Amino acid sequence: MQQTVTAEAISQMKNLELRWVDFKDYAEQIYALRKAVFVEGQGFDDFVLKSAKDETGLHLLAFHDNQPIAAICAYFAKPDDAVFEQLQLPPAEHLIVQFARRVTLPAYRDLRISELMGLLIWKGVYESIGFSYFFIGLMGVHQKLAPIYQRGFGFEPHHEVESPNGNIKVLIGEGERLKRIYNKAKGDVEVISAFLQVEPPSLNRFLDNHPELKGLRSKNTNENLYLKPLSFKDELPRLSAQARLVHSTQVNIIDEIELPTAPAKLLDIGCGPGVYLSLLSKHPKLADYQLSGLDLSPEMVSYAKFSFRTTDWKQGNVYEMPYPDASFDVIHTSFVFIHLTNPEAALKEIYRVLKPNGILYVVDVNDDTFDGPPVIKRMVHKHKQVYEGKRDIMNHLPALAKIYDLALEQSFAVTVDNQGEEGKTTQEGYKLHLGRITMWAMFAFISQRPDMVSYFEKADDWYLRTLCKISIQVQSQVFRKPL
Ligand SMILES: C[S@@+](CC[C@H](N)C(=O)[O-])C[C@H]1O[C@@H](n2cnc3c(N)ncnc32)[C@H](O)[C@@H]1O
Repeated sequence: MQQTVTAEAISQMKNLELRWVDFKDYAEQIYALRKAVFVEGQGFDDFVLKSAKDETGLHLLAFHDNQPIAAICAYFAKPDDAVFEQLQLPPAEHLIVQFARRVTLPAYRDLRISELMGLLIWKGVYESIGFSYFFIGLMGVHQKLAPIYQRGFGFEPHHEVESPNGNIKVLIGEGERLKRIYNKAKGDVEVISAFLQVEPPSLNRFLDNHPELKGLRSKNTNENLYLKPLSFKDELPRLSAQARLVHSTQVNIIDEIELPTAPAKLLDIGCGPGVYLSLLSKHPKLADYQLSGLDLSPEMVSYAKFSFRTTDWKQGNVYEMPYPDASFDVIHTSFVFIHLTNPEAALKEIYRVLKPNGILYVVDVNDDTFDGPPVIKRMVHKHKQVYEGKRDIMNHLPALAKIYDLALEQSFAVTVDNQGEEGKTTQEGYKLHLGRITMWAMFAFISQRPDMVSYFEKADDWYLRTLCKISIQVQSQVFRKPL
């Protein structure tokens, strides 16, 4: 019964919108929400209405028919901030983040709006802000919410402190626990926003438009998610083999793409050992191109330099590339976007180094297209959930690229399956048939994650005992920067 009521209520909520807002533009509405909920509804004194940190905090608001109905904010404290002493918080190297003043008007509770807002601000801060730990301080009736913050947001009770307005229960969230919650939060945000038919607003975009908030930006984008769980030595041959296979899926596609004629400059981001770029360079359309390759891993770059001497290889990060504005006519990236924690920041930087009318050509696998027996599907699905990057990024890239003024021009999908003869890859149009062993070797890296071992073992057992068919799509998308 509850479900029916909720579904009806949702259908009447068509004009629901979430927005990151400038505090100065919405201060009155935010105070009014706090007054209605905390003071009139829950009996708190007026001290809850305002915080000295409101002006420098992040504020997420929900609107229904353009009227604010819910709000939440994140406050930031530097290591020398008075809050450390006031709340007896552990010392920190970077900023610490307080999630605070979550309010939803009574008529809009039980619709999961407040849950979605909590997840969005938590996930947005986790992805984009450099922090040491998260905390919340619960007072009065809010203290009974502690178990929800523990289960849903990874906080642990830390201690209780006295204050002139009553005791404050302090909960802290940090370390590996946050990583686990993040993986779950990604999925929950998708599910709840689809349920509420609301578009999650981009915190990256908001930060881009507010240079005064630049100091909050995360410096953690140096992490190489792709190489972290892998042994470089084992991964290199797999990667070279994969590059050859994937390249064969792209030959027809390159024929179809409207590429600038030579001489033109092409950059391959996340070039790995350079095998893929060296194969690309053999395509007649690219033969006279000036080629550059960039990778975060110094080992990959040394290997690429060693093997293919004619290209300009550089070590560097897609989030901060060592090239001037408008340097390249074409930017290519294969099997990189799935490994990025902040694809929006990458797109912004790509836009910067592309010339006007330049092309971004992205190739990536999409885990959502995997087909096969349930036990192997379960492994792929679980891996997508626990992986810190975004293994279905190709579903989202066109919308994200649009934010950064890169328009989708063409898209292609090649289905790769295990129905070929071993050692003899065959291709029919946009289908690639690999031998069973070659195909399975492409999934072997999953077993290197301790949290995936049991899923991999079950999938492996099934794969080796049956003649099951499996397939997955390698998708390509071509975007253009305006003139
Ligand atoms: C799966 S490999 C793909 C290599 C090559 N593009 C190919 O298709 O064979 C992913 C590569 O992205 C690189 N990488 C990961 N994060 C990066 C970042 N932030 N900036 C630049 N390269 C990155 C890794 O070091 C790795 O070499």
